[in-house]
Amino acid sequence: MTEVIDGNAVATELREEIADRVETLSAAGVEPGLATVLMSEDAASETYVSMKQRDCEEVGMDGIHVELDPEASAEELYGTIDDLNDDEDVHGILVQLPVPDHVDEREVLRRIRPEKDVDGFHPENVGRLVAGNARFKPCTPHGIQRLLAAHDVETEGADAVVVGRSDIVGKPMANLLIQKAPGGNATVTVCHSRTDDLEARTREADIVIAAAGIPEFIDGSMLKAGATVIDVGINRVESEDGSGTELVGDVAYESAAEVAGAITPVPGGVGPMTRAMLLYNTLKAASLQTG
Ligand code: GUN
Repeated sequence: MTEVIDGNAVATELREEIADRVETLSAAGVEPGLATVLMSEDAASETYVSMKQRDCEEVGMDGIHVELDPEASAEELYGTIDDLNDDEDVHGILVQLPVPDHVDEREVLRRIRPEKDVDGFHPENVGRLVAGNARFKPCTPHGIQRLLAAHDVETEGADAVVVGRSDIVGKPMANLLIQKAPGGNATVTVCHSRTDDLEARTREADIVIAAAGIPEFIDGSMLKAGATVIDVGINRVESEDGSGTELVGDVAYESAAEVAGAITPVPGGVGPMTRAMLLYNTLKAASLQTG
């Protein structure tokens, strides 16, 4: 029987632990605060940010939300970041990506104080992660690490294939998996949309992390029997019966589940873990800044 890796269940447990720690910190006079900044009218981005704010409320954190007109100047966004950097009640800052084309994304990421960079995207934090000395591990790969550990999926000595090379998921995921640390010690291959003979590589893998952003890119014929399959994709596509749209991952679930030993569903797999790890990082930021 294929094991379904329930991200909601693992995330719920983690959120409960975080809520307890938030209560202790609040009793000591520090209410962890997360600021989210949205400069986009993209419906998915709006949904993600509002879920992050709801999560904060649920664990007793202070959520601050700033919304900027997508037509506003880059300087206005930079000024907002500067103000949040200076605000002692704000311990974590997350600028929802992507930002509009007239804004330099790299400057946005550089501008956030590394101590408040709960995404882990500031160059200093990227460098620390690669050096094996992470301050904040990026939320999605860290959530995946937790999910694998919760389901006793051994990474040490495993052949892992990461499909996708984004700064947000693929690159940090590969880095975490190769580190000499719990949840690491894997032998990692990073593939992407231009990889030649992708299936020859995925078929060798004990663990496949699908994060290419391509709907149902990985199917059962590309997997080794018993592999663990982690689906990071959230793709909205026309539903087959033409009645509207539906969410699908980067993995063709039905066919993959016939071959895999364990698999994450979409939704309800990686997504809730990403959100929980943002709370984890915010709590860590508050502890580091006040401890
Ligand atoms: N847009 C899509 N994923 C992310 C993320 O993890 N962090 C931020 N800031 N924006 C995103």
